Amino acid sequence: MNGCCFTFCHFRREMLCYRRDGQKGTDKMEMRVLSVINLKGGVAKTISSVAIAHLLAEKGFRVLLVDNDKQGDASRGYRRRDEDGAGIDKIMTARRPDMGSLIQHTDFPGLDIITANMKLLKANLEVLLDQTRQQQTRLKKALEQVRGQYDFCVIDNAPDINISTINALVASNDVIVPLEVDDNTTEGLAELAEQIEFTREDLNPELTFRGCFITKYDKRNEAHAQGAAQLEAAGKYPVFRTKIRTSRKVSESTFARLPITVYSKRSNAAIDYAALVEEYLKQLWLDGVSLLSVRPVTESDTQKEG
Ligand SMILES: Nc1ncnc2c1ncn2[C@@H]1O[C@H](COP(=O)(O)OP(=O)(O)OP(=O)(O)O)[C@@H](O)[C@H]1O
Ligand SMILES: [Mg+2]
Repeated sequence: MNGCCFTFCHFRREMLCYRRDGQKGTDKMEMRVLSVINLKGGVAKTISSVAIAHLLAEKGFRVLLVDNDKQGDASRGYRRRDEDGAGIDKIMTARRPDMGSLIQHTDFPGLDIITANMKLLKANLEVLLDQTRQQQTRLKKALEQVRGQYDFCVIDNAPDINISTINALVASNDVIVPLEVDDNTTEGLAELAEQIEFTREDLNPELTFRGCFITKYDKRNEAHAQGAAQLEAAGKYPVFRTKIRTSRKVSESTFARLPITVYSKRSNAAIDYAALVEEYLKQLWLDGVSLLSVRPVTESDTQKEG
């Protein structure tokens, strides 16, 4: 495996990626779809999705964030929550969703969003009643329309296995699972791992469980340190080395409706999210996924930045 370490150089929104051997890449990566899932609520799925999407965009990747949770927290995090707006609900119900009208720009260059609101609840019921079309592949088909427009799609999911999360798994290449160390850290993880396995077998052979990562970590808390060590030692699931430390700046960032990586770039949590993204990108690199994307700044980028 030559040159498995790499560095990114930023120049405006162009991303140049150099291998250690000094070779500059020119080939382009396919849109990589990353789902952030855990069946448990409140483990930082949304905070993580919002931060990861922002960090990838900041690196120069073109990123689409999909809010796949009727709570619409990721949409709120980017100040795009709208009770009446159309977004993921239309993708679930419309035969040929008009992606151009469903995708919105965020306030950040290179980062677009498909929003969610309570309409997703009704949309999901509609999907389940409609046996005439495949129910699990609707998000995948919709994303195929924009495959050439983005490098990464990050999907924030609800704490559930429902038709929306199954659509996310079918559409994804990678799954990452935020975990909070508590009295039952891995509750629901076996069910989720099984669902990932079934989805891989039946509908999406490309799906990869990239790993769990610990959130809201406080190393001074003995229970956290022990819980994290046990999870790693058990070896049952892949675990990222990076842990996201707890930071009071995170809850402030939700009130400010900004990613933590913008609200407080130097907070422990923001620093850890940057390390997590590096660890994820390194996994892709080791798997031979080309990250050698050299993209000229387009007219629409300039307008967005303007
Ligand atoms: N690193 C952190 N430090 C401190 N608080 C955090 C951290 N990460 C997340 N939180 C807090 O944890 C709570 C839950 O976060 P978040 O909404 O991202 O979880 P979720 O898994 O998306 O929840 P849900 O299952 O309801 O969608 C929020 O109040 C958030 O501010
Ligand atoms: Mg959430």
